[in-house]
Amino acid sequence: MPKALTIADLKAQAKRRVPTMFFDYADSGSWTESTYRSNEEDFSRIKLRQRVLVDMTGRSLESTMIGERVSMPVALAPTGFTGMQHADGEMLAAQAAEEFGVPFTLSTMSICSIEDVASVTTKPFWFQLYVMQDRDFVLNLIDRAKAAKCSALVLTLDLQILGQRHKDLRNGLSAPPKLTVKNILDMAIRPRWCMAMLKTPRRTFGNIVGHAKGVNDLSSLSSWTAEQFDPRLSWDDVAWIKERWGGKLILKGILDPEDARLARESGADAVIVSNHGGRQLDGAPSSISMLPFIKDAMGDRIELHLDGGIRSGQDVIKALALGAKGVFIGRPFLYGLGAGGKQGVREALEIIRKELDITMALCGKRDIRNVDGSILWTEPKSLIEDDQAAKSRLS
Ligand SMILES: Cc1cc2nc3c(=O)[nH]c(=O)nc-3n(C[C@H](O)[C@H](O)[C@H](O)COP(=O)(O)O)c2cc1C
Repeated sequence: MPKALTIADLKAQAKRRVPTMFFDYADSGSWTESTYRSNEEDFSRIKLRQRVLVDMTGRSLESTMIGERVSMPVALAPTGFTGMQHADGEMLAAQAAEEFGVPFTLSTMSICSIEDVASVTTKPFWFQLYVMQDRDFVLNLIDRAKAAKCSALVLTLDLQILGQRHKDLRNGLSAPPKLTVKNILDMAIRPRWCMAMLKTPRRTFGNIVGHAKGVNDLSSLSSWTAEQFDPRLSWDDVAWIKERWGGKLILKGILDPEDARLARESGADAVIVSNHGGRQLDGAPSSISMLPFIKDAMGDRIELHLDGGIRSGQDVIKALALGAKGVFIGRPFLYGLGAGGKQGVREALEIIRKELDITMALCGKRDIRNVDGSILWTEPKSLIEDDQAAKSRLS
């Protein structure tokens, strides 16, 4: 793997190595992709305070997320089709995260199954749940995550129906890819990806095939997934899922202060401020611009996490300064995976670790747990201050 200095370097490498259909699946947002773009852009509007002549020795990035020790407060986000960015992608990413000392979250829509990931890791990972209309399947998934000793359930709330992503429709996204002339030519110029993929038996949704009623092969799978996301999902469902799970629960996809107040009442252990990486409601504000408002609405009763647009250690520290206890990264680790498998995920984490460490020092802090709003030059709420309507809704 060529040396990468930034997440953007890994993205460029992944683009060369991963078939277009799967690279595009990662590098896309819904409709005009405006929310996808503002997730990244809004971080650059936040300015840090440069401090000097402060002792910068003996620094520590160690912290906790939902009570678990982490070598830095950055978890890998749940992402579907990860085993299509690189053969056995979820297993490799989980191993890289474990070695690095950060949490890995397995998606319901993963290629490697819960059991596959458990078989190659020694510490508990987190499992992300999509609530499907087939409740027996959901109950069974929760039980499988428990049996695999997952230490947290991440319940995704913002995908009751699917936002439209033009690239996926144009590319005819599927796992495994259909063998059209276009796809065959596209894969043929990426022999490394093909060779690795030919060697693994894991080429479709491992948590679903053979587990959901009536889904025993690939033809039944596509109609099943299209129909199964539950548009009726409600706060009552959160209650029974919490009870059935019985362990740490993280609610993913809170972006509005009103929903944050409801989440606070749900008894969850943490909430992820997220707009699904700009893949659902196009036109929604960026996650980072909403973080101060969600923080206000929730108080300190639930731990706050954030995802969306984090591409550097500088972005991580800005999220922490605005009140997040930890963050999740999606695309940065997927680009690493596509670029170089497990080694690439390790590189993505190392790039962010190094940037975070040095940035913390230049802000005059030595311990990540002491990072707060005092390192910011920007007044947090000024991020959306130009929007009068938003201000009045939130007051
Ligand atoms: C390719 C891709 C697949 C995703 N699949 C899922 C998923 O299966 N479940 C889920 O809760 N979120 C999913 N997400 C959203 C991520 O968990 C996370 O919210 C998002 O990637 C964060 O933004 P970032 O990619 O800018 O870091 C996916 C995101 C991407 C990019």
